[in-house]
Amino acid sequence: MSDLNQIIINVKKEINLINNIKELNIFKVKYLGKKGYISSQFLLLKKLTKQEKIENSTIINNIKKQIKTLIKQHKNKLESNNIKFQVLNKKIDITLPGRYFKMGSQHPITMVIYDIENFFIKLGFKITESQEIEDVYHNFDALNISENHPSRTEQDTFWLNKKNLLRTQTSNMQIRMMKILNPPIRILTSGKVYRNDYDNRHTPMFHQIEGLLIDNNINFLELKAILSLFLKYFFDEKLKIRFRPSYFPFTEPSLEVDIMGTNNKWIEVLGAGMVHPNVLGNININLLNYSGCAFGIGVERLAMLRYNINDIRLFFENDIRFLKQFK
Ligand code: DAH
Repeated sequence: MSDLNQIIINVKKEINLINNIKELNIFKVKYLGKKGYISSQFLLLKKLTKQEKIENSTIINNIKKQIKTLIKQHKNKLESNNIKFQVLNKKIDITLPGRYFKMGSQHPITMVIYDIENFFIKLGFKITESQEIEDVYHNFDALNISENHPSRTEQDTFWLNKKNLLRTQTSNMQIRMMKILNPPIRILTSGKVYRNDYDNRHTPMFHQIEGLLIDNNINFLELKAILSLFLKYFFDEKLKIRFRPSYFPFTEPSLEVDIMGTNNKWIEVLGAGMVHPNVLGNININLLNYSGCAFGIGVERLAMLRYNINDIRLFFENDIRFLKQFK
């Protein structure tokens, strides 16, 4: 095996004589290729003792590394010389305007979700994640939704098999989080939900934001205050809001919130209520010490009202002319 330094000196001499990329590639194959110099050196190791093998393979690897670096440096040099040559010979017109990179931007739904999250973070809510593939227990049973509730049928729910489904609501997060967190709980989750529906106000996938608050003294007034503060923040300080009694299996009492649209009509924007004792009981939360409230917000609905959009499908058609307007 020849002397390390001598090899490198020779390689340097040889590489300095190369003045185009084609020759450099041939040089690369000669040294680093499958049948090249480095491989042949490794083949020679076979005849040596174990100790010699270790020593010599370190040397060969070292040489390989240095050759690689030399090739890279020389390649850069050739390329920049080439550009200089072209500029000097006016083959490249450096006065031409450059190419612009088109910047992407956030999807309007993402923007709205971040905006809503920022509001609730200021009220002390923690942002949590939850899963889109869910089982019957967390999407329905534990939320006190009866076995014959119409929302369970195939017309509404995308079933994956008898037990699992694409979640129809972010309320599954309430159960998952109550199982792992101890009260007081103050959390918010956003995400995709799925229902078998399609027209100008419904898409099979849409987004919800779910909030959950469990503490010693949570009451209806607190829930109403949070929701009206939020809606005034999101739309307008002077927004007219109406709380309407409603029904959800997982809350009691339940309410829906309407806001006054520009056309002087009430529009429903979210559902909420005090967490049903059956739901808290399912998770073994002590009903004597704790109560809770929850709310679910339809993200597309809010985005459509804020930006005056009349067809929900626009959000998901990926028409760049539509999306561009939200930068
Ligand atoms: N999950 C309900 C739906 O998808 C919305 C909802 C209503 C969420 C009341 C809640 C709630 O947390 O308390 O229509």
